[in-house]
Amino acid sequence: MLDLKGVNAGYGSFQALFDISLNVKAGEAVAVIGPNGAGKTTLMRVISGMTEPFSGEMEMEGKSLSSFPPHQIVELGIAHVPENRRLFPGMSVEDNLKLGAFAKTARSDSAKNLEFVYELFPRMKERRSQLAGTMSGGEQQMCAIGRAIMSGPKLLLMDEPSAGLAPVVVQQVFSLVRRIREEGYTVLIVEQNVQQVLQVVDRAYLLEAGQLIDSGKSKDLLESDSVRKAYMGL
Ligand SMILES: Nc1ncnc2c1ncn2[C@@H]1O[C@H](COP(=O)(O)OP(=O)(O)O)[C@@H](O)[C@H]1O
Ligand SMILES: [Mg+2]
Repeated sequence: MLDLKGVNAGYGSFQALFDISLNVKAGEAVAVIGPNGAGKTTLMRVISGMTEPFSGEMEMEGKSLSSFPPHQIVELGIAHVPENRRLFPGMSVEDNLKLGAFAKTARSDSAKNLEFVYELFPRMKERRSQLAGTMSGGEQQMCAIGRAIMSGPKLLLMDEPSAGLAPVVVQQVFSLVRRIREEGYTVLIVEQNVQQVLQVVDRAYLLEAGQLIDSGKSKDLLESDSVRKAYMGL
């Protein structure tokens, strides 16, 4: 579904990503794991068109992404749940959700998608009039995921959904990722929380200092000595 080949990217003269090639197949959940500063957010931004790559090829279902601005990338079925959620704290949950349906392709389905989000996350229906900024971190993450679903995507990009959340809430966020998968969404997630993300994805890539240094099935990575030493402190 998503294919990256030889992607280089960065900011001005600073290069943050080096020769990134990866793919995500329809129905898969794939993680990119790496420490702070590895380039995870840059990768998400490049795919969703917010940062232009220096070079390389990116395709979504065979269509080249490089020629599209962000709003058209959303229309191709890619939704981005950004780092730190980026909700409008002074707006209600429902208004935040509705903002996710800005794409031309999603506007006509807005009411239907809102019902779907409320079915998936009944908590959001209960809280629909509450100001987003007054909800707990886990609820805000749920709202941010809901907002992404409002665009009617095929592929969800999730940037460190567990960051800054208490351990018990982190568990809840990863079970949300599981639920989303069960609904048939394809997921590409970047995380530092190695142990837990590997429980909910099929495969993962390891990103270090802007380079992919390893990849494999979650099960194999969980058992690999180098991953356990470098990322889990075992
Ligand atoms: N807007 C920016 N301008 C310049 N450098 C940036 C910018 N955003 C990120 N970087 C740099 O790019 C590198 C990768 O950052 P980032 O993609 O945010 O990593 P991660 O999400 O894995 O923590 C870091 O060295 C960071 O300082
Ligand atoms: Mg980041």
